[in-house]
Amino acid sequence: GREFPKAKPGKGIVPVINVNDYVTKSKFDNLYGCRESLIDGIKWATDVMIAGKVAVVADYGDVGKGCAQTLPGFRARVIITEIDPIKALQAAIEGYEVTTMDEACKEGNIFITTTDCFDIILGQHFEQMKGDAVVCYIGHFDVETDGKWLNENAVENVTIKPQVDHCRLKNGFCIILLVEGRLVNLGCAMGHPSFMMSNSFTNQVMAQIEQWTRPDKYPVGVHFLPKKLDEAVAEAHLGKLKVKLTKLTEKQAQDLGVPIN
Ligand code: NAI
Repeated sequence: GREFPKAKPGKGIVPVINVNDYVTKSKFDNLYGCRESLIDGIKWATDVMIAGKVAVVADYGDVGKGCAQTLPGFRARVIITEIDPIKALQAAIEGYEVTTMDEACKEGNIFITTTDCFDIILGQHFEQMKGDAVVCYIGHFDVETDGKWLNENAVENVTIKPQVDHCRLKNGFCIILLVEGRLVNLGCAMGHPSFMMSNSFTNQVMAQIEQWTRPDKYPVGVHFLPKKLDEAVAEAHLGKLKVKLTKLTEKQAQDLGVPIN
């Protein structure tokens, strides 16, 4: 029953809650979800042995961190590319080699991009890759890999099975491109485990309840929700994992100046 003003170019007309940046979304779905479903996608598509290979992960954001964490479990060596000095330093301190795509393209056997930035893997990179390099993407927009260059420059392009293209370049080497450069974990596998998605969707439900029950708190614009709701989402999932949460004593709570939980 709420009335909203008419849309003006560049201006929102309804209240919006940014659920994407909830901790229980971005630090869970993006990181832990991709940590599980990336390998699923690569394995279902290619059956390639990951051990002993070099995997290049373009970026060390939340999704990149998840991808970087899972690959050494299969005994791949991981190289990271980053533009953000803090994340590049984090990656280096975690023990990953950090370099540019111009360098990494010569070393990698498996390439994963998730930067949301265009022109990450270009023709010049494809041309320097090792034979049968697997190239895939796990972000949301298919702008990172220059698929057009591959289409125009491959001397042979065989679709081995749906979502798996084997492109032979003029130098004789082949690139295995997954899902034509779109999301590998959805295109080649089943996405994240449902427990992980439950975190993300609980966020959305909480946001809708909050917006519906307290409309006055949310005028037209983009809003972030109180940390309490983020905590409530996490708390709702603890029982399933048999987690025992420590409660502050009254004295501890008083000392910290927080309400007793
Ligand atoms: P983020 O913002 O944490 O990470 C992006 C990173 O890319 C940043 O660290 C940034 O510095 C880096 N970057 C930007 N341009 C770069 C460049 N040219 N070269 C190297 N690094 C560069 O974002 P997040 O949370 O990791 O999400 C990434 C994408 O993944 C988003 O589109 C998101 O929607 C999507 N996503 C996909 C999922 C899936 O199931 N496939 C699940 C969750 C998120």
